[in-house]
Amino acid sequence: MTSTSPSGSPAPRDSANARSRKIVLGVAGGVAAYKACHIVRGFTERGHSVRVVPTESALNFVGAATFEALSGQHVSTGVFDRVHEVQHVRVGQEADLVVIAPATADLMARLAAGRADDLLTATCLVASCPVVVAPAMHTEMWNHRATRANVATLRDRGVTVLEPAHGRLTGPDTGAGRLPDPEQIVALSLLRLAGRDLPQDLSGRRVLITAGGTRESIDPVRYLGNHSSGRQGFALAEVAAQRGAEVTLIAGATDELPIPCGAEVIRISSARELAKEIDCRAADQDIIIMAAAVADYRPTVTAPAKLKKTSESAPTGIELTENPDILAGLIAARREGRVPEDTVIVGFAAETGDDSGSVLDHAIRKIRRKGCDLLMCNDVGSGKVFGRSRNRGWLITPDGSVVEVPDGTKLEVASLLLDSVVQITAER
Ligand code: C5P
Repeated sequence: MTSTSPSGSPAPRDSANARSRKIVLGVAGGVAAYKACHIVRGFTERGHSVRVVPTESALNFVGAATFEALSGQHVSTGVFDRVHEVQHVRVGQEADLVVIAPATADLMARLAAGRADDLLTATCLVASCPVVVAPAMHTEMWNHRATRANVATLRDRGVTVLEPAHGRLTGPDTGAGRLPDPEQIVALSLLRLAGRDLPQDLSGRRVLITAGGTRESIDPVRYLGNHSSGRQGFALAEVAAQRGAEVTLIAGATDELPIPCGAEVIRISSARELAKEIDCRAADQDIIIMAAAVADYRPTVTAPAKLKKTSESAPTGIELTENPDILAGLIAARREGRVPEDTVIVGFAAETGDDSGSVLDHAIRKIRRKGCDLLMCNDVGSGKVFGRSRNRGWLITPDGSVVEVPDGTKLEVASLLLDSVVQITAER
């Protein structure tokens, strides 16, 4: 049977899924506590065991019975429950990963102060495994200096504090402080479990990322498109934003994907629309990553009305015109000083091998031709990447050196690629 993720799509396998791990899910007392139910499902559907440890106030929002039924494990909040099992120590000692979602301002203050006045905080003091905290609160509380200081303290101690999403909060207001989509929390937590950290090494950096496929209209109904799902570009935007970057994501046609937390998303359809959006933003960026699958050609003429099927004459063909090569244009703009010379520009190459060379041969020729600083190459033969939650490939630099990117979730691949980008930035 195929399991489904909280968002309804098939639950992706990931490298942390190689064996079942013990995950403690802490739940603090915010309205977003109801989303913790989907997070429990997200982990259990990937084969992990989940012990839910709510705070007393979390139980005002979701009953212990719900968490027990979903996790199949006992739920308690205090250190005086089942004292003979020494839960206040054992739960943390046995955990492979602690995830707290939602984390309130109050809970983060207690964690930062090193309190151990309930089972969740005691567990965090004992745990030596990775800890991921997903805050959710009103924007004012998130921006308060006390909360900022607590977040900094926790990050300094190696805790991964996720950036919250922007959007509708409890009540009529919107802003930063919304709990990310449960599927994002599950995926980012498993990234941490797979040994990939989310350091704040892109803090203050402006990063422009393109994702998805372009659509080139034939008439008002039909278009020329491609199989790109946008998942790798969205994963890059997610990881870059969680590493502190100010992210702009220009997205073409994609699968239905959650908005990366904190990213500004601009929707485009055709290659020329993409070129226009990049043109007015490129000069302000520190890093540009062209993960979109951009159509090389478009129909020369877009019919203003739907082309009709007639019995007399079948269409004989579509005349095509070449699209601008946006990546090549960016490199030229950098050479001519219209884009700062230290802007790091990354290209993607979805390749298939053929008689004229292997996937890698084509990719090495491509980085030389395009002139970008880094090229992520994938073998897309026989549907190996498109629409999948996993990816693999090679990172190629202009000197022709090749680093293999092993099979991993698209977040893991994004994390490795951004490590290389950070290294290139440091060398400039
Ligand atoms: O030559 P190819 O299309 O394989 O190059 C892929 C890389 O070039 C990707 O980074 C893609 O985003 C970019 N590209 C572009 N403009 C095009 C076609 C591709 O920027 N017209």
